[in-house]
Amino acid sequence: MNKHLLSAGDLSAADITRVLDTAAHLAHVTDRAIKKLPTLRGRTVCNLFFEDSTRTRISFELAAKRLSADVINFSARGSSVAKGESLKDTAITLEAMGVDAIVIRHGASGAPWRLAEWVDAVVVNAGDGTHEHPTQALLDLYTMRQRFPSFDGLRVAIVGDVLHSRVARSNVLALTTMGAEVTLVAPPTLLPARVDGWGATVSYDLDAVLPKQDVVMLLRMQLERQRAGFFPSLREYARLYGLDARRLDAMAPHAIVMHPGPMNRGVEIAADVADSIERSVIASQVTNGISVRMGLLYLLLGGPAVAGPGGAAGSGATGQDAGSAAVAAAGARARGGPW
Ligand code: CP
Repeated sequence: MNKHLLSAGDLSAADITRVLDTAAHLAHVTDRAIKKLPTLRGRTVCNLFFEDSTRTRISFELAAKRLSADVINFSARGSSVAKGESLKDTAITLEAMGVDAIVIRHGASGAPWRLAEWVDAVVVNAGDGTHEHPTQALLDLYTMRQRFPSFDGLRVAIVGDVLHSRVARSNVLALTTMGAEVTLVAPPTLLPARVDGWGATVSYDLDAVLPKQDVVMLLRMQLERQRAGFFPSLREYARLYGLDARRLDAMAPHAIVMHPGPMNRGVEIAADVADSIERSVIASQVTNGISVRMGLLYLLLGGPAVAGPGGAAGSGATGQDAGSAAVAAAGARARGGPW
């Protein structure tokens, strides 16, 4: 794996499998009475958030704490950024304090790449503008893997505001790397100009696409990023592209519903669909975010090199064995004393 996680496109199939396998083993920590491993003891992780977040910030904090790292939570509000301090000076200040990893969310697309040029610390992109959100894609793939045996040929529809969605970009990159068949469904006004080059099929007709999918992922309508009238009204959008009970019935019986959150209930997803215990895995996505971010921090900051399955996509079993060995080795070292 690269030193930083900036884009889902930087991850090979072997890298993705390694993160998911490591996360699966670390997930057991959450089931224990004492939910901690000493793996990142003495390491410092800074959550540098210039945009609001609930799930990503809290799960990174929990993930780092469960691996015994020290955690600093920085938000632009209440910091010297409010007095005009630049991202570069903020980064240099954090580096001078000795942070080992910076998890950054920023409204400007590309900000994590600039940060990685300025600091020696590991940089993790926790969402940059309308560009990418690679750890969301990893936790989404982890959640899909809990329900389906393989990504090869898995049919995933990503529905809604693709134009403004960093979740869509990162998911398309990670899912196509793993061999899934992705269909983007949106009105033409909410699709990027060069979407033809994404390696996904494009459709404007949700009802035609739905019955063929294994996974239907709804995207949040990002009203705060929309500066033009992309559709006549929210009501019309919900009628054409919202997942309601009628459309849920049209899906294959095994198909699951996902949403990265936060949701606009009644717009892209009806409340009863979001809360469907049988079909919705939205709560699992949140839970899995902790394990996946633990796995990622472990691999980027503290874990020994985990041998991948020959550099190719490989089978989950091979990667899982490697991840298992690495986590077991970390546990053994932890029991053996300070390290
Ligand atoms: N999915 C996601 O990124 O949610 P938050 O904005 O709450 O972190």
